[in-house]
Amino acid sequence: MTARAGFAGKAVLVTGGASGIGRAVVERLAADGARLVIADILAGEGESVAEQIRQAGGEAVFVHTDVRNGDQVQAMVATALDTYGRLDCAVNNAGVEHGLQALADFGEEDWERVQDINLKGVWLCLKHELPVMVRQGQGSIVNLASVAGLVGAPLFGPYVASKHGVVGLTRTAALEYGRMGVRVNAVCPSAIRTEMFERSLTDRRDLAEKLVRNSPMRRLGEPAEVAEAVVWLCSDAASFVNGHALTVDGGMTAQ
Ligand SMILES: NC(=O)c1ccc[n+]([C@@H]2O[C@H](COP(=O)([O-])OP(=O)(O)OC[C@H]3O[C@@H](n4cnc5c(N)ncnc54)[C@H](O)[C@@H]3O)[C@@H](O)[C@H]2O)c1
Repeated sequence: MTARAGFAGKAVLVTGGASGIGRAVVERLAADGARLVIADILAGEGESVAEQIRQAGGEAVFVHTDVRNGDQVQAMVATALDTYGRLDCAVNNAGVEHGLQALADFGEEDWERVQDINLKGVWLCLKHELPVMVRQGQGSIVNLASVAGLVGAPLFGPYVASKHGVVGLTRTAALEYGRMGVRVNAVCPSAIRTEMFERSLTDRRDLAEKLVRNSPMRRLGEPAEVAEAVVWLCSDAASFVNGHALTVDGGMTAQ
């Protein structure tokens, strides 16, 4: 594997790295020479992504992690330190969707599952990643929010609430930890062609088509296009970018 400049030797952790956007980030970082920790609840898929990177001459370990569980998140960060001796960047990407309904029709179970993974999961990751980076005197974290973290979206109530929370956590972490050399930013994609998108709109093809029709670029985004933004925010090229929520939405929120 030929490393491009930028991440050679850097230890980077990616949650939800077994599929979709997380996997695209992992593949892009591996091509740039990063040493990876891939965390996911999908053990088979996660192991296989790590194995593919090693086969190509890169460095990657998989750690089975449910981001809802503080002990597992702590063990995930410890894996980075045990394996590579440091943690330079973290991409807190693991997240889930829900079935589409009006706010009053959601049950408490859906609400709690989505907040637990999308919001508490990101906070737990920050809780265990930040002290390591503070000790190092440097680090960079990127949280996967969404355009649903910036504007409302009918039928996506719990998801919208969780992603607004992620943007709020990102800004607060940036204010608290910037002076310690740690940058924290968020990426806010619109609809991206992944399994999550397929799952959430399987029964609503009409909505999927409307999303594309209403998008300024008249298409969905690709995981690799989001990965470019994530990797840039992680990198030293973004050394004075902190507390930013960067849209990767083909102009959707400019309307
Ligand atoms: N696809 C989109 O349209 C879109 C748009 C905006 C934001 N996002 C956000 O981007 C991120 C990635 O989404 P995606 O589209 O690649 O989805 P995806 O379903 O393809 O991938 C999500 C990954 O997270 C993992 N995961 C789920 N729950 C977990 C848990 N409790 N612990 C650890 N890992 C867990 C899954 O196993 C999966 O590998 C999510 O945070 C999502 O909300 C996606």
